Amino acid sequence: MKNRRKEIYAANWKMNLDSGDIRGFMERIVPYAGTVDAEVMIFPPAVYLSSVAEQAAGSPIGVGAQNMFWERNGAYTGEISALMIKDCGAGYVLCGHSERRHFFGESAEMVTRKAGAAQDEGLIPMICVGETLEEREQGETLEVLHKDIYCSLSDVKPDKRVIIAYEPVWAIGTGLTATPEDAETAIAYIRDQVRELWGDLADAIRILYGGSVKPGNIAELMACPNIDGALVGGASLHADSFIDIIQNGVNR
Ligand code: 13P
Repeated sequence: MKNRRKEIYAANWKMNLDSGDIRGFMERIVPYAGTVDAEVMIFPPAVYLSSVAEQAAGSPIGVGAQNMFWERNGAYTGEISALMIKDCGAGYVLCGHSERRHFFGESAEMVTRKAGAAQDEGLIPMICVGETLEEREQGETLEVLHKDIYCSLSDVKPDKRVIIAYEPVWAIGTGLTATPEDAETAIAYIRDQVRELWGDLADAIRILYGGSVKPGNIAELMACPNIDGALVGGASLHADSFIDIIQNGVNR
């Protein structure tokens, strides 16, 4: 089953790195990405999208934005549109990262609207879902994921290129990683929810794990049948550790 889904290793730089750091990173990752049987993606801060896309040109690296607004253009100070992301040479966009939901008040309705608008412009959305520590401790993880998936996909057209990332909020930037068993249970459940909505397309959808992924824990995560890759924050800021993650994931 998994063999039919190409793995994805994605770097979410969040609000980190400058143009000098990025140049150094790209010099390492561009030649490497062509040698590995997996999709490598980078989500830089929006101001560096064009530059990263230019440096990645001719390589198989996918480039995406960390956020967008659903309108094409207009008086929305500080926002960027799918059209602009595409114009920068990028092909992907994160929708509903937990930091957007929790620090910037994005609701599930906003997330699905963004993801639908991304599709309308030909971008591929990577939709992020995951429970908080409190929800987990209350035993509400699956309920939260059910709601997240149903709401987040409600404006999204069924398409096997759509990507989902399961990022338990308590595991992001904390050094705490979900056990492979917990991550597999949650991701298998997410796939079941997608199956209820989209039928057999669920078998083709890539679902990634994110939350304190490191070179030392990626192999056991990638050994799980439903985990199709990783969305990496902190450990993706240095080319060495990001490449080690990809290498250890692919060669598990
Ligand atoms: P960390 O890898 O730093 O925990 O971040 C995960 C994440 O939020 C990726 O989107």
